Amino acid sequence: MADVTNGDAFVAFERVQKSYDGETLVVKDLNLSLPKGEFLTMLGPSGSGKTTCLMMLAGFETATHGEIKLDGKPINNIPPHKRGIGMVFQNYALFPHMTVAENLSFPLEVRRMGKSDREEKVKRALEMVQMGEFGGRRPAQLSGGQQQRIALARALVFEPELVLMDEPLGALDKQLREHMQFEITNIAHNLGITTVYVTHDQTEALTMSDRVAVFDDGRIQQLAPPDELYESPQNSFVAQFIGENNTLEGTIQEIKGNTCTVKLDDGSIIDAKPVNVVKPGDRTLISIRPERVEMNKERLSPDAHTLRAEVVEFIYMGDIFRTRLRVAGTEDFVIKTRNAPDQRRLKKGEQIEIGWLPDDARALDA
Ligand SMILES: Nc1ncnc2c1ncn2[C@@H]1O[C@H](COP(=O)(O)OP(=O)(O)OP(=O)(O)O)[C@@H](O)[C@H]1O
Ligand SMILES: [Mg+2]
Repeated sequence: MADVTNGDAFVAFERVQKSYDGETLVVKDLNLSLPKGEFLTMLGPSGSGKTTCLMMLAGFETATHGEIKLDGKPINNIPPHKRGIGMVFQNYALFPHMTVAENLSFPLEVRRMGKSDREEKVKRALEMVQMGEFGGRRPAQLSGGQQQRIALARALVFEPELVLMDEPLGALDKQLREHMQFEITNIAHNLGITTVYVTHDQTEALTMSDRVAVFDDGRIQQLAPPDELYESPQNSFVAQFIGENNTLEGTIQEIKGNTCTVKLDDGSIIDAKPVNVVKPGDRTLISIRPERVEMNKERLSPDAHTLRAEVVEFIYMGDIFRTRLRVAGTEDFVIKTRNAPDQRRLKKGEQIEIGWLPDDARALDA
């Protein structure tokens, strides 16, 4: 989704900072705008500030500096329950004295919806989370994963314009988790709901989101659609956090337009794409995805640099082969090849030659 100016943003964080103790900033100068209907995921390691951002948007925490706007208006003066936001937080419990159906009906009653409409909506919401049989139970009579699904249904049942979700699928097994990922994105898109979703599961972030904001240390390291994040990471942190990644350390020798030559620390020379390096002499981390490494020299240009490598481990994984190599002083260089009829299986100890297109090796910050 294209960048939006703050003018047509539905949700906007403007220069937001947050400190709990008056000393350390756990959110540092956050600028983020979502257009209406966007599904945005905040992804990042533990403690990077994701929940804090969600709590400020929900109104349970206030920003130390900066402003948060909803539909163009600062939200500071609107109390949480008047913001029309659906929420699923890790510790945002169900009402224990109400049945499951009463829990779901409650946000509709508050909005003065008639009884038969309420019953219809509650029934559909329960079916959505595969809990149709459980309307009469109390939360204490449900498993953790079942409670989580009811919390999710309760956040969506009144079809809010904005939904905030903090690790809503954490307690679910893989199959149910994937089903719910599909249901959530479907509902959000069909109803045009704007969603801010928090997870530290990168696969979940990549499969569900229009855009992903990668957080580290209170800052957004990169904000981009999933494919761009995976294929064009802007710095070493993002390259290593998203997907599997090979890194090689070296020094920039020469930069010519869209390619550069790099002298690796063992003396060998490779080609790469300069991303956030500036000049010869700069230290760099080269980032290469395992599926972009080429063993067939005919697919590379005649003057491309190649590296000699030794097979340390060859793993047959069914659909792909995963081979670990000793190359340029590291033993952790991984390549993935598709299991095709013409693809040879390598042997431990075998010497091979590898290379890549310059665009597939990104010269990032060291
Ligand atoms: N109420 C609080 N009082 C003081 N410090 C807090 C409070 N809540 C969070 N923090 C601190 O703020 C930082 C960011 O926390 P936050 O909960 O936003 O991280 P997170 O990205 O959601 O992490 P996780 O993935 O573990 O949920 C952490 O260092 C945390 O210890
Ligand atoms: Mg959190």
